[in-house]
Amino acid sequence: MKQINIGILGCGVVGTGVAKLLLEKKDLLSSRTGAFLHLKRVADPDTQRDRDVHFDEGVLVPDAEQILEDPEIDIVVELIGGKGIAKEYTIRALEKGKHVVTANKALLSAHGNEIVKVARTAQVDLAFEASTGGCMPIIKTMRESLIANNIRSMSAILNGTCNYILTRISKHGDSFEKALKTAQEKGFAEAEPSLDIDGHDSSHKLAILNSLAHGIDINLDDIHVEGISCIKPIDIRFAANFGYDIKLLAISKSHGEQVEARVHPTMIPLSNPLAHVTGVMNAVAIDADETGPTMLYGHGAGMMPTASAVVSDIADIARNLIVSAKRRVPILGYPEDNIKKADILPMKDLYTRYYIRCAAVDNPGVLSKISGILGELGISIESVHQKGKNANDAVPVVMITHEAKEENVIRAIDRISALDSIPDKPVLIRIEDNNTQE
Ligand code: HSE
Repeated sequence: MKQINIGILGCGVVGTGVAKLLLEKKDLLSSRTGAFLHLKRVADPDTQRDRDVHFDEGVLVPDAEQILEDPEIDIVVELIGGKGIAKEYTIRALEKGKHVVTANKALLSAHGNEIVKVARTAQVDLAFEASTGGCMPIIKTMRESLIANNIRSMSAILNGTCNYILTRISKHGDSFEKALKTAQEKGFAEAEPSLDIDGHDSSHKLAILNSLAHGIDINLDDIHVEGISCIKPIDIRFAANFGYDIKLLAISKSHGEQVEARVHPTMIPLSNPLAHVTGVMNAVAIDADETGPTMLYGHGAGMMPTASAVVSDIADIARNLIVSAKRRVPILGYPEDNIKKADILPMKDLYTRYYIRCAAVDNPGVLSKISGILGELGISIESVHQKGKNANDAVPVVMITHEAKEENVIRAIDRISALDSIPDKPVLIRIEDNNTQE
């Protein structure tokens, strides 16, 4: 049986999970791949921590050079994370002719093009199933299973931290701050959670999915990103009254040459399966021209789900190596020469429906001023709700619009904010209806 030598860079939570799988499931993996996946070395500066996994003498080392410079290592698994040393090691490993498996979405979304070019020059593979959606096999699905399809749209919950927080607000009425604290206490949110709650982790993953879906090179800065810290229980309660829930969605829609790419809190009807993805779970709903709607659901993080995805990439490369194949499936789902620069639809040109909540001092005429502004900008109101009546305090006025142009809606919000009777900036949440489910 052919032996494939593997080196892991970084033995944190996921690195430990990958080591466990390679060691404890070696018989299953051999019987399924026809190769012996030999964990030759693991490099991590901390070699003393108890990781609940037994390494033979000399396997766990402090120095990455013992992997990068070892000519016997066939596959390097980069699990350091971030864009610093991880980038340097990834490029060095590729240049040395080693295949690389990584879970690093921040690195791929920022420097994917450069890294893919290095892999091409070195004629080696780069695999990244665990970078997006944890254990959900979304990368292989986009790259291989949907090859005969044009991807019309994707709507995805790609951040477990945000989904957990929104679920707490929705099901328990927690404030954002309380829900975040609970997520941190349970270990679902980082001590420094801004990458997650500001939406950037989701945008990194959306960049990867968009590249695979459309064969495009996408600039991260072209993705519109909003986080969830503005979401209040009152908005989730209003959403529920209208038959909706609020999720942080990563959305991609194809309009021929142009593609929408946006991450923001989104109202979705309870009839949309994504509305029932709760807690830390992730899901991706894809609408493709031949398959129609397809959906994947699973753990987007966690030691063993993520390790399972990493090992699936190792096994793919091993299966290639035992038949002397490589680069069988293009890294980004399209041969590099066919990848085009992305043309992202500017947000101002987006058409969708909107939820607008204003806190209005309940004076006569305030509603007509608001609706007058919306009317002047060509924004048609589907429904208006005003709850409560209080001559002195502001009361919530909630409007749902018909489909409107974002540019006009933003102008309307600016003008409404300037009214004397509107003490705070109105809350704006985009609505996505079930157009993929029909
Ligand atoms: N921090 C991410 C999340 C997991 O909360 O989903 C890693 O991508």
